Amino acid sequence: MSRLFLGASHAANYAKFRPKYNAKLADRIVQYCRQRGANFDLAIDVGCGSGQSTRLFQDHYKKIVGFDVSDEQLKQARLLSMKSSTISYEKGNATRFPVQSDVADLISCAQAYHWLDHDKFHQECERVLRTRGCVAVYGYGNCELDNAEAQKILSHFYSYTVGRFWDERRRHVDALYREFSLPFGNYTRDDSLSLKMELNLDDFIGYVSTWSAYVKFQETYPDDNHAILQRLYADLAKIYHDESSKVYVNFPLFLLLSSKQ
Ligand SMILES: C[S@@+](CC[C@H](N)C(=O)[O-])C[C@H]1O[C@@H](n2cnc3c(N)ncnc32)[C@H](O)[C@@H]1O
Repeated sequence: MSRLFLGASHAANYAKFRPKYNAKLADRIVQYCRQRGANFDLAIDVGCGSGQSTRLFQDHYKKIVGFDVSDEQLKQARLLSMKSSTISYEKGNATRFPVQSDVADLISCAQAYHWLDHDKFHQECERVLRTRGCVAVYGYGNCELDNAEAQKILSHFYSYTVGRFWDERRRHVDALYREFSLPFGNYTRDDSLSLKMELNLDDFIGYVSTWSAYVKFQETYPDDNHAILQRLYADLAKIYHDESSKVYVNFPLFLLLSSKQ
């Protein structure tokens, strides 16, 4: 197993190994915004992390601002968006967006809504959205592997090896945000999309290393020194044994859409 990612910061691994959102998702959100009569001047990405979710909109909006509470994540986001003249990043908390009132045509929040104070987030959306502006909350659920034996090994790692290190809010992701809705107009959800990836085993293990439960496990048991990940790698390598073997991964996407009347 490549040990490269084991020395890198969590944010650097996040930027490198987390799934990238695809054009179909951007198109679906843009289609909704068009139907609602929104403009395409400014998009705000809340909890932007390393900017995967911010760069998604670069072909659609004149200006995009991503913000996050984490300096480390923002550092990665800026590095990866250096060439873009339309994207900028700010430090900020979702309890008070770092932008003026009545300016945004889209507010997006990817894989972060379950971490937020929802009442405050909704109040801030009301304040910052222009009339007919839209909110898109989305994310991806647990990944599905094409090989049943590999899926069993991964599920065991998820639920038992690092199981008790998941924050209790993770259950919302497991449930694909089914218990959430958005309190603005024209609320709808779309569960028809997914992210499909073909990874080599090293990169797949790199992705698992970004799980918050895995990071917490290592913080709690530093002496483990990534041994549990080495074991997972060894178990999966019995299935994906040669270098050219690909791990086919499907992430179900969930998308919640709503607009200001
Ligand atoms: C799982 S990451 C998602 C990052 C990115 N949106 C993506 O889709 O890959 C969640 C992000 O939410 C940020 N976050 C958590 N609570 C926040 C808050 N109250 N305000 C702003 N950002 C927050 C974290 O720092 C983290 O970068």
